[in-house]
Amino acid sequence: MANHVEKRSQDGVMSLVLARPEKKNALTGAMYDALVSAFAEASRDDRVGAILLSGKGGVFTAGNDIGDFLRMSDSLDVTPAGRFLQTLAAFEKPIVAAVEGPAIGIGATLCFHCDLVYAAPSASFQMPFVNLALVPENASSLLAPQRFGMAKASEYLLLGEAFGAAEAFRLGLVNEVIETPLLYAHGLAKAKALVAKPRAAMLATRKLLRGDANAILDRIAKENRAFREAVLSPDARAIFTAFLQKSKAS
Ligand code: COA
Repeated sequence: MANHVEKRSQDGVMSLVLARPEKKNALTGAMYDALVSAFAEASRDDRVGAILLSGKGGVFTAGNDIGDFLRMSDSLDVTPAGRFLQTLAAFEKPIVAAVEGPAIGIGATLCFHCDLVYAAPSASFQMPFVNLALVPENASSLLAPQRFGMAKASEYLLLGEAFGAAEAFRLGLVNEVIETPLLYAHGLAKAKALVAKPRAAMLATRKLLRGDANAILDRIAKENRAFREAVLSPDARAIFTAFLQKSKAS
């Protein structure tokens, strides 16, 4: 698949690899579009029973492309990222993630939407929205307190600090920490195990476990309104510009 998302299917598992390692797999509009279309295909295709997400080059993803944040304007109603968040929240088949290295911004928050998450010891999760003069996205303002409890959710969303694989395991974001060389194969084996279950019962169980998708979609819509305002603010734009200039200077 073009656009820095590599897609392959094996034994009922659609594997999607974020593959822009020279930019730490930062997600562009084209990559979100590619993910949305792969998820739609996975949804339609009865042969696909699960999705496996991973990143190339020892990195999961450094989150949204910061240059794309800078290029955002008031005129665009629904962005490719917005379409991806809606797709992810409404997706009805199980999603497994194999996380190596940085999982920043949406890289961390999409783990809330995965059913099983495996992390290498190098994994590092961060929701640095406030540091960038932004607000949480992907329903993380709802799902982080539910998953971590309010104390830890406040710590990681208000201070925006990174946390490692062991802490992610303690917080219940990660199922297991797996040595790097075994990580992808482990994620694939678990995804295949999901595919091998009686399909209707597995999907119904997942739906019951996840609860009301509308509550998540409502929160995403509310966050998006605040995010849109924040991303266009002078504070945020100055931070994005400084990040990109630092890159150019080094
Ligand atoms: N958007 C656009 N480009 C990004 C990026 C992002 N989110 N993250 C990394 N890159 C680019 C860098 O600009 C650099 O590009 P260059 O080689 O053309 O200069 C390249 O990827 C390598 O990144 P670099 O920062 O040099 O690597 P590092 O190993 O020192 O640090 C990270 C890796 C992921 C910790 C660091 O890049 C980072 O903090 N990225 C931003 C994360 C972020 O805030 N994302 C937004 C969340 S809402």
